[in-house]
Amino acid sequence: MTGPGMPVDVHEGQAAYTPWTLRFYDLAIFQVNCRFFWRVPVRELLALFDRNLADVHLDIGVGTGYLLDRCRAHAPRQAVTLADLNEHSLRHAARRLARYHITTVRADALRALPLPPGCFGSASVNFLLHCLPGTIRSKAAVLDHAAACVRPGGRLFGATVLARGVRVTAGARAQLALLNRRGVFHNAHDSLADLRTELAARFPSHRIAVFGCTAVFEAEVP
Ligand SMILES: C[S@@+](CC[C@H](N)C(=O)[O-])C[C@H]1O[C@@H](n2cnc3c(N)ncnc32)[C@H](O)[C@@H]1O
Repeated sequence: MTGPGMPVDVHEGQAAYTPWTLRFYDLAIFQVNCRFFWRVPVRELLALFDRNLADVHLDIGVGTGYLLDRCRAHAPRQAVTLADLNEHSLRHAARRLARYHITTVRADALRALPLPPGCFGSASVNFLLHCLPGTIRSKAAVLDHAAACVRPGGRLFGATVLARGVRVTAGARAQLALLNRRGVFHNAHDSLADLRTELAARFPSHRIAVFGCTAVFEAEVP
């Protein structure tokens, strides 16, 4: 999607997800990247979803819907709103998760979401922040937009690949450099310290766990 007023780097952060690339996404991300480059066990991501997913959930930056498909969601009463800038991701994930009550919303997570406030029990932003341009400080607007949709006491969670303050292997460093050059990722300056600061500024109750160069975070929405 390109459109009037959309910065090039925001466009680039979602442009890689085409019907063709989405066919290989699960293999590339969950079998190869998580295991060999980012060093985050997929079981930790599934456990994150299992711990935090509410019956009425908002997923922002949906990809293929892999984790929502594989986690212990509460079918048949599970309701999931999928929000993404990319129509291919939305279509792919909606098809895959058709056993739930699915709503799709095409939206830029860097702007306020066109959803009613406080309606969701949980929201996820998994592997979204590292796609977005800007500093962790500016990207954290996404946390505000997601949290605005969640009821007080609800959960906000996700994971992001960092470049600073975490252990980045030589292989991961080379891969991240390439992805940043291509505009698929924008995380060359993303640090664990900045992520901690932004989470702490918003959520008195939150937790970050680091696996390899990936931060896995979860918070209670105040
Ligand atoms: C790396 S995938 C993550 C998919 C999934 N959450 C996962 O954990 O595998 C990033 C997703 O975020 C979407 N995305 C990228 N930039 C976005 C933006 N500014 N607003 C909303 N979605 C965006 C992409 O289209 C893609 O579906």
